[in-house]
Amino acid sequence: MTRPGLAGELIAWQRQHGRHGLPWQGTRDAYRVWLSEVMLQQTQVSTVLDYYPRFLARFPDVQALAAAPLDDVLSLWSGLGYYSRARNLHRCAQAVVVQHGGRFPPSSAALATLPGIGRSTAAAIAAFCFGERAAILDGNVKRVLTRVLGFEGDLSSSAEEKRLWALAEAQLPERDVDVYTQGLMDLGATVCSTRSPACLLCPLQARCVAKAAGTPERFPVKTRK
Ligand code: ADE
Ligand code: SF4
Repeated sequence: MTRPGLAGELIAWQRQHGRHGLPWQGTRDAYRVWLSEVMLQQTQVSTVLDYYPRFLARFPDVQALAAAPLDDVLSLWSGLGYYSRARNLHRCAQAVVVQHGGRFPPSSAALATLPGIGRSTAAAIAAFCFGERAAILDGNVKRVLTRVLGFEGDLSSSAEEKRLWALAEAQLPERDVDVYTQGLMDLGATVCSTRSPACLLCPLQARCVAKAAGTPERFPVKTRK
């Protein structure tokens, strides 16, 4: 019996059980998607739901944000923490206006050169806005992929992290990469949790190496600090 790929199962699950209707979904406006991704990097969805609309009301587009005094940006950010994110947000908006004519560049490689946009955030924006087949690998996704694949490498090693990036790229679907990307994020944030993953609800349970071994919590492997 052949099973559909991991990606196919995740896409079907996302459509039925993933998160829908959040204010930054259902738009391909890179400004809105970028803002949500930067907020979501270190902040829970429930908190972002409170800040995101206020931020957009005050700074409706990248030009408005770029032109604002930094203090206004910091004061609207107040409470979200990690203020380097707000400073980079402001610098990034200015770079988009000055270097790219006010349009976010439409590729993950170009996005990743902008302030505050790392490889995974760049890939998420490119997948959601431009349909690019680019792999994400944030903390939640590392957990899901190392468990499903039984990836034993130690992620404190940059060589092992690089190996996991290549495996993440190898899982990408031919199409619907936006749904797939959201599915990976949603599965990691809900079903495949750090402490007690709900494997019996997981669309990947039949192929998950860590579940078969009975030890999901052992992944991702990291040497103790
Ligand atoms: N975390 C980072 N990006 C996210 C997104 N688009 N949806 C939900 N959680 C996220
Ligand atoms: Fe995570 Fe369990 Fe799903 Fe494996 S089966 S990906 S450990 S929730």
